[in-house]
Amino acid sequence: MAETALGVDRLAAVATRADAPRHAALVRVTHWLTTLCFLALLVSGLELVVSHPRFYWGESGNVLTPALFSLPIPASRATVPTGYGFVLPDQNGWSRALHFQSAWVLVLTGALYVIWGAVSGHFRRHLLPEASDRSVQAFSRALARHLRFTRPAAADAWSYNLVQRLTYLAVIFVLFPLVIWTGLAMSPAFVSAFPSTATLLGGRQSARTLHFLLTVSLVAFLLVHVAMVWFAGFGTRVMAMITGAPAPTRGPE
Ligand code: HEM
Repeated sequence: MAETALGVDRLAAVATRADAPRHAALVRVTHWLTTLCFLALLVSGLELVVSHPRFYWGESGNVLTPALFSLPIPASRATVPTGYGFVLPDQNGWSRALHFQSAWVLVLTGALYVIWGAVSGHFRRHLLPEASDRSVQAFSRALARHLRFTRPAAADAWSYNLVQRLTYLAVIFVLFPLVIWTGLAMSPAFVSAFPSTATLLGGRQSARTLHFLLTVSLVAFLLVHVAMVWFAGFGTRVMAMITGAPAPTRGPE
């Protein structure tokens, strides 16, 4: 009796799966909006960094104070005297405007995705590791498969493996929130209303340094993410993320 019930459940699951898109429309729209905003943030952020490629720790730092580290590139903008005994880098117009606009679109998009993901059960069903995978052994096995570049099985086109799930969760719930926090901690208006945003991080220059390092981690994620999508079958996987159509794999069944 139990076997019959299980069989019916499985049939129902397969039938539901055959009708359902691989990715929900909201996941697809927010995924590509996030990607677009992230690229805009990268281009504008790079311009901001190149205009002053020195990083400090604490509340303040400038060309006259020692740097924690600096990028081995010349500053793209001249420093301008302020008349108060110190100098500031020339201000960036388009890059700041683009950076702030894309940051707010990304924050709203992310909020929509996170609220929908929690309410609809998307995170619980598709991103939290399955009960059988919640062990160090399962993680080591999944990581070893990843590092050996074992091609995904056909069933994997319908769900994320353990390494993907943990990586996506880390990106959504750790890296993005931290990058937003450190970004807000650099805003004079925000910090004057909520000073602890910056003081908890050690100051506004510490926030800038952490913001940069978190961005480097997100770029590393993006490179590996796209490489893994390529490895699993770029055209079909990306098409599934655009249209929702299921993505058959090229690997062993
Ligand atoms: C900063 C940029 C990006 C971030 C933060 C990101 C993040 C994510 C996340 C969190 C998921 C899981 C979504 C869910 O099911 O809720 C995902 C899936 C996916 N992403 Fe991205 N992504 C980015 C850029 C890209 C790019 C540039 C591509 C391809 C050109 C891409 C292709 C895909 C595909 C195909 C999937 C589904 C994976 C699969 O079927 O195995 N992503 N991405």
